[in-house]
Amino acid sequence: MSEPADRRYGPATLPTARGPLSAAVVAALRHPPHDLPVDLGVDLYPTDPFTDEDLQLTLFLCYELHYRGWRGVDESWEWQPTLLALRARCERVFEAALRRLVGAPSVPAAGVAAGLADLVAADDGPSLAATLQRRADLTQFREFVTHRSVYHLREADPHSWALPRLGGPAKAALVEIQTDEYGNGRLDRMHAELFRGTLDRLGLDTAYGAHVDVAPAVTLATNNLMSLFGLHRRLRGALLGHLAAFEMTSSLPNRRYGNGLRRLGFDEVATRFYDEHVEADAVHEQIAAHDMCGGLVRVEPALAPDVLFGAAAGLAVDRLFAVHLLNSWAAGRSSLRATATPAVPPTVSIVASPEVAPPALV
Ligand SMILES: [Fe+2]
Ligand SMILES: [Fe+2]
Repeated sequence: MSEPADRRYGPATLPTARGPLSAAVVAALRHPPHDLPVDLGVDLYPTDPFTDEDLQLTLFLCYELHYRGWRGVDESWEWQPTLLALRARCERVFEAALRRLVGAPSVPAAGVAAGLADLVAADDGPSLAATLQRRADLTQFREFVTHRSVYHLREADPHSWALPRLGGPAKAALVEIQTDEYGNGRLDRMHAELFRGTLDRLGLDTAYGAHVDVAPAVTLATNNLMSLFGLHRRLRGALLGHLAAFEMTSSLPNRRYGNGLRRLGFDEVATRFYDEHVEADAVHEQIAAHDMCGGLVRVEPALAPDVLFGAAAGLAVDRLFAVHLLNSWAAGRSSLRATATPAVPPTVSIVASPEVAPPALV
């Protein structure tokens, strides 16, 4: 059954809150843009920002306003100053945690491409791909695809933020990669569309953002990381480093994902997204490391440490994601969030000042 086009391509439905901060933001977004209170009375220093559901959802809520927006939410919220200020506070916590997680990678004398190769070679995370290839059952594979749908249904978009921020060889290389990601301008070849085929074959909702509510903090963190790097020009080096690490660790795992689906009896429509990446990313990794990141650093040498920081951060957060899935499955649990939990009531109420008291939109 075909779904309405507007649901397929977004905006997504506002997710359910996961704590006082996200509850306050969700409640505010249901009204026309207005100032948020300066002090939300919420602890913004969680012990583990990567697993803090409230922090990660709040960041995701804010970032999505720069992508497709949220269904029924006034588009002017995108640049509402007090919401941006709240986002900035959350970002400081998140970025500090990322820098603590990976430290400050040093740039080897051989250059930034060699540094990227070193980081990838040293990546000793558990092999989620091997599990999916050899052992995962259908339920677990569907979970994996559900997690990844948050990104793959907008595949490549976060890295496109870099395009207007670059010139010269790095820009040309990024365009070459992104052109493939967007199917060379053919809708049916766009990677996001190929992934829609995988979701469909696995009997999962193919709508944009359909699975945000069941995606745990660590899954949102893998997405928020890209948005953080993408939306800040000062982090353009980290954004390109992230993309390079992504491409350099993609070809073999994607072969394994495709093989896992074939083992479970799925056809080429289900595996096309993964099969496409086996060849494409073997090429992209060379372009990303040498032409794109190397090209950037030749023009802006001071950005070399940022490139390696972005790559290391991407690899580290992906490791946390893999550990979460594998530990959940080893314990006989779902790696997704349960959706039956009731919405968390806001402990702070965000309302406009009386003169601009907003009517509810939805
Ligand atoms: Fe792709
Ligand atoms: Fe790629």
